[in-house]
Amino acid sequence: MKNVHLLDHPMIQHKLTFIRDKNTGSKEFRELVEEVAMFMAYEVTRNLPLEDYVVETPVATANTKVISGKKLGIIPILRAGLGMVNGMLRLVPAAKVGHIGLYRDPTTLLPVEYYVKLPTDVAERELIVVDPMLATGGSAVAAINYLKAKGAQTIKLVCLIAAPEGLRAVHKVHPEVDIFIAAIDSHLNEHAYIIPGLGDAGDRLFGTK
Ligand code: PRP
Ligand code: URA
Repeated sequence: MKNVHLLDHPMIQHKLTFIRDKNTGSKEFRELVEEVAMFMAYEVTRNLPLEDYVVETPVATANTKVISGKKLGIIPILRAGLGMVNGMLRLVPAAKVGHIGLYRDPTTLLPVEYYVKLPTDVAERELIVVDPMLATGGSAVAAINYLKAKGAQTIKLVCLIAAPEGLRAVHKVHPEVDIFIAAIDSHLNEHAYIIPGLGDAGDRLFGTK
């Protein structure tokens, strides 16, 4: 799938190992997820357009560049996507943040929407949807459907760990969406958890069960 970008920088792989570790507590888990999100933001923003800019240094005039083009929007899928927001904002502090609340019904495994709050100019922004886990892909597809219905034109999806099933599901419905991931795992178990994965991302971030 040409739109899938595996970000396997050694720093990301190293930190992801300890995110996966069942002995990593919530405090360290949150810190590591934030750090990996920041590294991923660096790659996700690699192709942002630049425009010419002239700046006076203390000794001369420099003909240089600044980022131009659309403004950014970061869209966490609640709850677990919240864990990636601050890392992204460390690189793009001017981005606005819109929230899409979805939970996976444990029986049907289908996403259920419970809260949405988006920037008013969402259609004019380049949107980065964040969620640590791409399992069946149902939540990501639903979030992207919602954003497109609100007029969004440019959407990227950033997840820590994806199952092949989730990648295929998003690519099938939204083939133009670039998907950035830190790892592709083996498969889903009978409860649609990613194997080996990291367990329940929301519970590990927030210390719930
Ligand atoms: C998790 C995860 C994704 C979703 C992935 O959220 O954060 O949003 O599951 O699964 P899918 O690809 O099969 O849709 P969950 O529903 O557990 O909610 P939470 O973030 O509130 O814990
Ligand atoms: N949601 C999670 O938090 N973990 C998984 O493995 C799958 C869905």
